[in-house]
Amino acid sequence: MKIAIFGLGYVGLTAAACLTREGHEVFGIDVSDEKIAAVNAGKSPIAEPGIGELIEAAVAKGLLHATKNAAPHINACEMAFVCVGTPSAPDGSHNMTYIAEVSRQIAAMIDTARPESLTVVYRSTMRPGTTEDLIQPIFEQQLGAASNKVELVYCPEFMRESVAIDDYFHPPKIVIGTSDGGPCRRLDALNAQIVAPRFYTHYREAELTKFVDNTFHAVKTAFANEIGRVCVQLGINAKTVHQIFVADTILNISPAYLRPGGAFGGSCLPKDVRALQYIASDAGADTHLVDSLLRSNEAHKHFLFENCVKGLSAHSKVLMLGIAFKSNSDDLRESPNIDLARKLLQAGYELSIYDPQIIPSKLLGQNLGYAFSNLPKLTRMLVSKSVAESGQFDLVVDTRGWAKTLSFKPGQQIVDVNTLS
Ligand SMILES: NC(=O)c1ccc[n+]([C@@H]2O[C@H](COP(=O)([O-])OP(=O)(O)OC[C@H]3O[C@@H](n4cnc5c(N)ncnc54)[C@H](O)[C@@H]3O)[C@@H](O)[C@H]2O)c1
Repeated sequence: MKIAIFGLGYVGLTAAACLTREGHEVFGIDVSDEKIAAVNAGKSPIAEPGIGELIEAAVAKGLLHATKNAAPHINACEMAFVCVGTPSAPDGSHNMTYIAEVSRQIAAMIDTARPESLTVVYRSTMRPGTTEDLIQPIFEQQLGAASNKVELVYCPEFMRESVAIDDYFHPPKIVIGTSDGGPCRRLDALNAQIVAPRFYTHYREAELTKFVDNTFHAVKTAFANEIGRVCVQLGINAKTVHQIFVADTILNISPAYLRPGGAFGGSCLPKDVRALQYIASDAGADTHLVDSLLRSNEAHKHFLFENCVKGLSAHSKVLMLGIAFKSNSDDLRESPNIDLARKLLQAGYELSIYDPQIIPSKLLGQNLGYAFSNLPKLTRMLVSKSVAESGQFDLVVDTRGWAKTLSFKPGQQIVDVNTLS
């Protein structure tokens, strides 16, 4: 296949080197004279293991040509990859100048009489909405009725510098964002030899993927370093603590606790996060990430409340399903559902609660104290199953996924808290 690659930086050069290794012919386009001269001389302008050898071999075989001007080649290509930089702008957003410039250049070069469309695959990291709100309009404006001569795809790059070639051929996943969320025939053909989970989705989900991954990597590193600092300050062996932590692949290094849903709560998590904050600060190990967790959780509780009552009239009758912090438990301590109930009451709604695990006369000790200091009228708000199903409520707020096991009148407004985010 003939492929144009815009941007001969770490991402673009790696793609050029790997695609030519597979026998494709690549036209590499860059604004830098030095990069173009280096590539055409068979040399890599970046230090990346193995890239120099692949570029030398590709140029010797006539498979790699670097140029500043794509115009003579673009209409001979089936695909174009955009790998230009998206550096930070002063306000922290991505500077999209290079993406916009390259998109305009490609759009202006497309021959509307070409028999087949050009598949333009964006690999740069760019904010959700860029393909639909910035790139697509550029092509539509330039091509008008011939917009079908271009197929736009967003495919985030997951390679890491220093192991870029290995990552190219063995990526953790391939994410393909298209206009209809379906596959891209040419990209699939190009990736046919690569064994990796494939995800076909719409542009915005694909665009956000890269931010989610990179931010999670940053969270993990910051968390590990905060725990490491606490260990050092307390004279604890951080390596041993790390080994024990990562050995738990059921709760720690696993998908557990990673699904967007309810806020965290209960008798342990908030208490122990608070205590670790105290321990760290007492030991002189600042833990800014850990310090942010409870505030983040409060923000989430408020988000859930606001989204539960969106459009609900004042003084409406609300039924909450579940008030304890989890199913099959009567533990109300630091239950996020208690906070949700308080917010509903403060906002003036008439609140009833259905939770068969909660029998006020059986609550004891701290559980009893927590329940009644936070919801003094809890006993009066609890209702039976038959009242819950009576159809008198304007809104059912389901914190458990119980609604499907109960009978509600047709059209009953039900909000499942765990699917709001
Ligand atoms: N470097 C990585 O490890 C990595 C990994 C995954 C994703 N990414 C993302 O990929 C994108 C590229 O990253 P990079 O590290 O390769 O950047 P880079 O700065 O190394 O390369 C970008 C290249 O684009 C060229 N360029 C700029 N304007 C151009 C134009 N109008 N026409 C042609 N070329 C032009 C620049 O001269 C430069 O050579 C960024 O969005 C980055 O966030 C990078």
